[in-house]
Amino acid sequence: MAESRFNNPYFWPPPPAVPGRAMAEPRTPSTDGTLDEFAAPTHVEEVREQMAAFAGHHASAGRRVVLITSGGTKVPLESRTVRFLDNFSSGRRGASSAEYFIESGYAVIFLHRHRSLYPYNSMFSSMNMLEALKFRSAEDASSDAAEVVVDQQVFPNITKVLKKYQEVKENRLLLPVEFNTLSDYLHLLKASAQALSTIGSMAMFYLAAAVSDFYIPASEMPEHKIQSSNGPLQLSLNMVPKILSPLVKDWAPQAFVISFKLETDPHILLEKARRALDTYRHQVVVANVLDSRRGYVVVVTPETQTELILTDEDEKNEVEIEDRIVSNLTSAHKKFISQQNC
Ligand code: PMT
Repeated sequence: MAESRFNNPYFWPPPPAVPGRAMAEPRTPSTDGTLDEFAAPTHVEEVREQMAAFAGHHASAGRRVVLITSGGTKVPLESRTVRFLDNFSSGRRGASSAEYFIESGYAVIFLHRHRSLYPYNSMFSSMNMLEALKFRSAEDASSDAAEVVVDQQVFPNITKVLKKYQEVKENRLLLPVEFNTLSDYLHLLKASAQALSTIGSMAMFYLAAAVSDFYIPASEMPEHKIQSSNGPLQLSLNMVPKILSPLVKDWAPQAFVISFKLETDPHILLEKARRALDTYRHQVVVANVLDSRRGYVVVVTPETQTELILTDEDEKNEVEIEDRIVSNLTSAHKKFISQQNC
């Protein structure tokens, strides 16, 4: 039977909220966009130029450009980092969405956490590559110039995927940019927004990365590894300014912006998604609950609320929810562009 909100506790709408359980007001500071508290990666200017050239090239050919953020940010606890806090995200949503955006005619800037999932690579994510390789012949195995081939029984789709990947590379449809820490992410997102502001409403921001709300300012961070011999560790973390605010208001005010809302408690999900739209005044929030995110999301706009659900049949046919999300958003983006041009 298809999963529906009636037989899955994580689906919206959840049971009525407990009386008296009012939600706290947001405490996250907004930013004027200066990011002075966060160290910029040394290559940020170079990356900004690459992104601007990429966006200009594709937009002048009439192609829309999407900036996808993907993976979790890392927050160091020490300057010479041994320990850090991490936000959960495998990067699968971002990587898979990148493939569907390219299929829909977009060029993609893929701002992703180093070593998180990468487009066209998902089949390798959980396997030992050596299990998929073999010598072309038994004689090869004993030769120094052995020929090694991919075992197509292990990767039945490898030819199709390789062709697609090479086509994407040849047409320069995918620009990968990596981040590791929260500071990298914030500066690179700002740089990408500034680069994409030159193409106005042709740009879409698809903010699927899981971004930390807490950090330790560089001025308060110990240089060396924290010593356990000093006893239990008490951490005091500052709030990270919500980067969505300057992105929508100042850096790329004409772009079509989608943020993601992740919660583990389904009771508060939609209220939080609506509040994000009210606060940041962007176009869409894709709301999801951690445990059901692969099969169910709600696309929330100021006027609409659309549930996207994978049925058992879809799952049998290996349909991915990102296919549905991207299809919904590319149509909305098209409408947005035509309204801007009226
Ligand atoms: O990668 P997968 O394993 O496939 O999982 C996908 C996902 C669950 C990570 C993804 O679907 C998702 O929900 N990503 C957003 C997670 C998140 O950070 O949610 P949030 O509620 O903490 O933040 C909401 C929005 O505010 C996000 O778009 C975020 O980019 C933005 N934000 C967050 C923190 C911050 N300091 N500034 C921000 O602008």
